[in-house]
Amino acid sequence: MRRLRNRRGVNVDQTALLIELEPVVAANLDRHLSLAKEWFPHEYVPWSEGRTYDGLLNGEPWKPTDSPLPDVARTALIVNLLTEDNLPSYHHEIATLFGRDGAWGTWVHRWTAEEGRHGIALRDYLTVTRAVDPIALERARMVHMQAGYNNDHPEEMMHSIAYVAFQELATRISHRNTGKATGDPIAEQLLARVAADENLHMVFYRNLLAAAFDLDPDHAMQAVTDVVAGFQMPGANIEGFQRKALSIALAGIYDLRQHRDEVLQPVLRQWNIFGRTDLGAEGEKAREELAAHMDELETQAARFEEKREARRLRQNR
Ligand SMILES: [Fe+2]
Ligand SMILES: [Fe+2]
Repeated sequence: MRRLRNRRGVNVDQTALLIELEPVVAANLDRHLSLAKEWFPHEYVPWSEGRTYDGLLNGEPWKPTDSPLPDVARTALIVNLLTEDNLPSYHHEIATLFGRDGAWGTWVHRWTAEEGRHGIALRDYLTVTRAVDPIALERARMVHMQAGYNNDHPEEMMHSIAYVAFQELATRISHRNTGKATGDPIAEQLLARVAADENLHMVFYRNLLAAAFDLDPDHAMQAVTDVVAGFQMPGANIEGFQRKALSIALAGIYDLRQHRDEVLQPVLRQWNIFGRTDLGAEGEKAREELAAHMDELETQAARFEEKREARRLRQNR
């Protein structure tokens, strides 16, 4: 197999990589389709709890007391839904990078259709149960989608694949823990269903990058290091994200510990990052940088946990 150029800063031939990975995409697409379960958003929504809203149909305006959901669960649901809502931007990014032909194109469209279901289901649930202010939610959607989403590595396949592998797992964890935080078995069931989809998406991309590692270990290693070091959640440009992310972290729905130990580590382990013997000098250098970054994340995660515990004790006094 033809080797791809692999020095950092030198462009790897993206078209060659697309072609070389095509059979892997085809095999993993088949695997995905054999494992993905059909499901219906309408079955997850308690429609009979719904009431007409004010405005055109003269129903009842939304009030915060309409729903018993904890504030942080509402915040997390809003962040998760807005993140799902930006699907047209994500589709644009991956369709541009992967193309719309062959197995790549089939995957791009299938993935987009599955992701579309997530936003539909979450919005129906929130609207029917009156869990969040529907006007604020709609305005936030408009702002967020108009800002769009940009791939941090638009020219680089390996970076993009590494990013989505981590990001799919991050959304899985975030959806699942958001479900638990609602205290509502219906929301929990819905979010567990969505999380199961995200997990299959993660496996697809994780397998793809595993194959890329075999083609060009040094460049794949560099891509992983760059992506881990610069990782941001896909919804990071939501208005007020920092404040929302902090309350989500304080509630243990998604924090640095989970990011490091439940998102980054398991994927790095699957790629056998720290056991590989096929790296050249550039790959070794990138691996050392990654190890240092993971240590730094450990320190930061521990510090956050200490602060959170101190805060909890203060509040319980
Ligand atoms: Fe999703
Ligand atoms: Fe996904």
